[in-house]
Amino acid sequence: MEYRFDKEELDQIEKIKARYPEVRPATLPVLWIAQNKFGHVGPKVQKLVAKTLDLPEAHIHGVAEFYTQYYKEEKGKFVLDVCTCLSCQVCGGYDILHYLEEKLGIETGETTEDGMFTIQQVECLGACGYAPMMQITNGVYVNHLTREKVDEVIEGLKNGKLPQFESKEMRKVNPQDR
Ligand code: FES
Repeated sequence: MEYRFDKEELDQIEKIKARYPEVRPATLPVLWIAQNKFGHVGPKVQKLVAKTLDLPEAHIHGVAEFYTQYYKEEKGKFVLDVCTCLSCQVCGGYDILHYLEEKLGIETGETTEDGMFTIQQVECLGACGYAPMMQITNGVYVNHLTREKVDEVIEGLKNGKLPQFESKEMRKVNPQDR
């Protein structure tokens, strides 16, 4: 596959560069453009970003490696980040992870043969109050997971339907109740 940006993307990149006094701060948003287009920022994509921004490949590589949100290899269309950190673990995060593995017929870290799903095990995503939870492809969170909810989510994704964003309210604590 040939990796290149089209005219529209190059115009977008020029606009991003114009926001900053120097080019380096454009690295993060341009990596996003690349990941959205190619599905990952593997070595060849990093090379393209470096060439486009006229920055050293080592710089682009360092930034891409630092953030787990950038995928350094090809992933499925939907990346299921299942949290197994403390709160999620206590609330059944591993059960959800293993159920997903069983349901999709792959191990954590693998991608289904049809290229639809990748399962990843991740650290706390800051939604501990709604455990167990997972995030889908750096986007929407799915909270209070159960096997039934996993079934629904997977069916929806197979039909191209992302779960809706759920607005969660933190419980209000009356200081007198403390
Ligand atoms: S422990 Fe899972 S979101 Fe914090």
